[in-house]
Amino acid sequence: MSVIRSAVTGVGSYLPEQIVTNADLAEFVDTSDEWIQERTGIKQRHRARDDEPTSDLAVEAARRALAAAGKSAEDVDLIVVATTTPDMTFPACASIVQRKLGVPVCPAFDVQAVCSGFVYAMSVADGFVARGLSKCALVIGAEEMTRLMDWTDRTTCVLFGDGAGAVVLEPREGQGTSADQGLLGFTLRCDGSKTDLLYVDGGPATTGTVGHLRMLGNQVFRHAVVNIAEAITSCCDAAGVEVSDIDWFVPHQANQRIIKGVGERLGLDENKIILTVETHANTSAASIPLALDVGVKDGRIKKGDLVLLEAMGGGLTWGACAFRF
Ligand code: COA
Repeated sequence: MSVIRSAVTGVGSYLPEQIVTNADLAEFVDTSDEWIQERTGIKQRHRARDDEPTSDLAVEAARRALAAAGKSAEDVDLIVVATTTPDMTFPACASIVQRKLGVPVCPAFDVQAVCSGFVYAMSVADGFVARGLSKCALVIGAEEMTRLMDWTDRTTCVLFGDGAGAVVLEPREGQGTSADQGLLGFTLRCDGSKTDLLYVDGGPATTGTVGHLRMLGNQVFRHAVVNIAEAITSCCDAAGVEVSDIDWFVPHQANQRIIKGVGERLGLDENKIILTVETHANTSAASIPLALDVGVKDGRIKKGDLVLLEAMGGGLTWGACAFRF
């Protein structure tokens, strides 16, 4: 049976220039390089300039993804931006990206599922591409999480960073098997009863301010390994593949201990996991496409490889997505 699948034909990413090391943070908050590395695996994070909004990071990542796909801004007919830190409450970051890139009139909107945003956005864009409604979709994860930090709260401010990653999705005809190029399956979940574990204490309809990120880290940690492992097995079922078939795991980069915990629970080969948390920290919806770009650029992820993306974040949301590159 012939089917149309959404294929990832280009990947790109962008990190702001400024690097903030653990030692830099230890100068103004009661923490240490040793504690941060041991508990999270993080050594440094990038931080955007004051005059560099999220849309700027998104646009640069998108330009690089379009170049990798051999496409131009005029070809784009759908923009989905996964972000929890848009430039403004509205318009959507996607609208601003469209203007800055010079993309013609098309659907453009944001998806807000916090750290799971990129997996959610891929599923939304796949709906357009697989139904013939888009021939060249830009799916972007872009965040400036440092804007949400309470710099006096050592339990959160050491964990996050800024950055953006993007992919181009184009339709490819397949036979309806897991050998097809393109997106093969998804699992998306949310448990709204756990909103109080990870949230921002502000917003337009509550405080009228942006607010700061608040997290019960050890409770989030407890849910993470179990939820992510379940999402991966469920996604593999949906895609018609075994976990052992996956060539590359590209996890959301929140914490090396969570990634290792999931790996141990599922018996994954550590050498098949792309890890960037050490240098990027947690960039929320941007972390997966940033890591994907690292794996593609350094030659580990090759055409034809089976790739699995997974994430968990505020909501609590979590999910996974499998595609053949
Ligand atoms: N530097 C030094 N000490 C710190 C610290 C820091 N940056 N942050 C917390 N501590 C202290 C705590 O105050 C606590 O001290 P106490 O025992 O005197 O009260 C101690 O370290 C242990 O705190 P705890 O929160 O139990 O540590 P933990 O081992 O759970 O590690 C996290 C904390 C945040 C690293 C961990 O819970 C985590 O990664 N959770 C998941 C968070 C996550 O990834 N969220 C995003 C999902 S998208």
